[in-house]
Amino acid sequence: MNNPETSGTQPGTAAAESQNEWLNRYESSLMGVFGAPQRALVRGSGCYVEDADGKQYLDLLGGIAVNSLGHAHPALVAAVSDQLGTLGHVSNFFTSPPQVELAERLLALADAPQGSKVFFANSGAEANEAAFKLARRNSDPAAGRTRILALEGAFHGRTMGALALTAKPAYREPFEPLPGGVEHLPFGDIDALLAAVDETVAAVFLEPIQGEAGVRPLPEGYLQAARDATRAAGALLVIDEVQTGIGRTGKWFASEGVMPDAMTLAKGLGGGFPVGALITFGERTSGLLAAGMHGTTFGGNPVAAAAALATLTVLESREVLANVRATGDYLRRELAAMDAVAEVRGEGLLIGIELNDDVAPAVVAAALKAGYIINSTGPATLRLAPPLILTAEQAGSFLGALPDILATVRAAATPGTTIEGKP
Ligand SMILES: Cc1ncc(COP(=O)(O)O)c(C=O)c1O
Repeated sequence: MNNPETSGTQPGTAAAESQNEWLNRYESSLMGVFGAPQRALVRGSGCYVEDADGKQYLDLLGGIAVNSLGHAHPALVAAVSDQLGTLGHVSNFFTSPPQVELAERLLALADAPQGSKVFFANSGAEANEAAFKLARRNSDPAAGRTRILALEGAFHGRTMGALALTAKPAYREPFEPLPGGVEHLPFGDIDALLAAVDETVAAVFLEPIQGEAGVRPLPEGYLQAARDATRAAGALLVIDEVQTGIGRTGKWFASEGVMPDAMTLAKGLGGGFPVGALITFGERTSGLLAAGMHGTTFGGNPVAAAAALATLTVLESREVLANVRATGDYLRRELAAMDAVAEVRGEGLLIGIELNDDVAPAVVAAALKAGYIINSTGPATLRLAPPLILTAEQAGSFLGALPDILATVRAAATPGTTIEGKP
């Protein structure tokens, strides 16, 4: 890595340790919820990361749709360092300029009307947890309005409320009972949605593209149908843009054109620094969570806000979103032409690749060996969510390597092996 920001031994790390030593130490000190890490990564620069043995990888996963500016982007490093050296943290008994400026920037980007507001959190799950509380505040048990709708395949996070919205039984069942009232509708079925949304519904939660379920976009017209039905029924439409928001799809928000009652953001917003947000649209919805009803120690922290402001500034000023569209189109077009590929889904630089065979976890392992970080969300599904600054040349390097990677895997294929991608 030739980035002066990140090269050399970092204070507090032991760069001399090898890959295996770090992995052994991990195993004996970290909880096993993520399974064994694939590698110990020690530094990054642009779209590349380097492991403890000095091997470089092109990062086509970007910390799962997080590192929008790549690694160690100078603008992000400067913003975080300056803010930490100026005012690192204050309680929410106080505010700070970056917090207010970020809220204003997000409201403007989301084209939010007068009276709209922002609540800052530290992650996607927390943003959705706040949205869940908002939904409860739109409930009226006396009038029979208690139901909250989400979709089969939905992933909204791992805290208890966010988990109640998440569909996957393997994630939910060990922690039941979860907060009640949530029902999961068949994915993408407009008739089922219209049949379900009435005055008994407090809120509908939707991802414009289901990321964890394998990059599955809602069908054309679904979001608008949900908007019309929820408005008519007095239910809130909550759009989870945690994975799809802030330029990931080549637009600021994947749901652009449909104004929700609430939107949640995290992942790419801080460019790698933890920050989440709930935006409420309009005065009525924004008033549902009144003083004392919700809170957080770290949410809206000035350093996190400065990181998000710097990320937005780079995305706005360098025509990054045009790059996301062009590089994403190029990748999708070339991937779709490959023999081993059954289908390519997604928008911009959120890409799902459906393979003809159940070999995705083996392809992820072979790609890593070849120097590319990708991810599988299921037995036959690969996901790419690289930095938004990925160049056509870098994309081309992966496209050039993939046929050999697929051939190696096919030669040694053991179909049916499944190690699911985990956020
Ligand atoms: C759509 C969506 N919502 C919420 C979350 C949860 O975010 P976090 O892992 O930051 O809690 C994720 C994470 O993958 C996500 O993709």
